[in-house]
Amino acid sequence: MIDLTKVSGLPMEVTDDFQLNLKPGVVESGQKFVRKLSEMEPVLFDRKAKPEQEELYHVYRGISLESDKTLTAVNHIQYDVTIIPPIMLGDEYNKTLGHYHQNIEGSTVAHPEIYEVLNGKALFLLQKMDPEMKNVITILAFEAGAGDKVIYPPNYGHIIVNIGAEVLVTANWISTDYKPLYEPIKEKEGMAIYVIRGKDGQPTFVKNENYENQPLMRKLTMNDKVRTDFGFDAQEPMYTAAIRNPKLLEFLNNPIKYAVQFSSLSS
Ligand SMILES: [Fe+2]
Repeated sequence: MIDLTKVSGLPMEVTDDFQLNLKPGVVESGQKFVRKLSEMEPVLFDRKAKPEQEELYHVYRGISLESDKTLTAVNHIQYDVTIIPPIMLGDEYNKTLGHYHQNIEGSTVAHPEIYEVLNGKALFLLQKMDPEMKNVITILAFEAGAGDKVIYPPNYGHIIVNIGAEVLVTANWISTDYKPLYEPIKEKEGMAIYVIRGKDGQPTFVKNENYENQPLMRKLTMNDKVRTDFGFDAQEPMYTAAIRNPKLLEFLNNPIKYAVQFSSLSS
């Protein structure tokens, strides 16, 4: 059992079988789901991998305190939790399926997202394609541990990889108006990079040959910019910060206004 109350700001815990257990006063307004091996096969480095379990990760949507339900609805924001057990998919670390977000109607800008690690060690892998979705033009990787926050700028495809020995638990705030786009990543059999456990036991990065002319992946750190440009302190859970001041999440539904701040995240 892992108690997430202090790190997340919400009374909840992760059970030994990787479920989220909400304590009294916490509600879940979205649909939870389990990602199965059969759904992940198209994006695996080794499609014949036989992990020790079929259920690869769990997502819980629309979590909040009962008393914050109206505030999140009015602001078109939702808080989700993703639980990714430390199992190997052959030589590849367990990961999410990956998607882009659809552009906001009438614009060329998609909804961004903000993540926070609640437990374990994550690698957030982000990639941006050219407007025709033919060539990958930017690949970013952010390593993050408990309390670290990472913002996905608009129009980046993304996955989360569990590169640690513990269960990885992440939270995210996102617009309730966003729509995921899974096909572009499935068509390419995954992201541009696979994260593999090397012979030394450390993550190594293998190119997905379905992406031609790849740029070099850039490893970045982000906490400073999330604080200086977006107002999220490393010490305070992002749930608590956003409920206290919902204006902090204005960028999720009005990303065009924050173009300058977003461009600094990837530099
Ligand atoms: Fe997303």
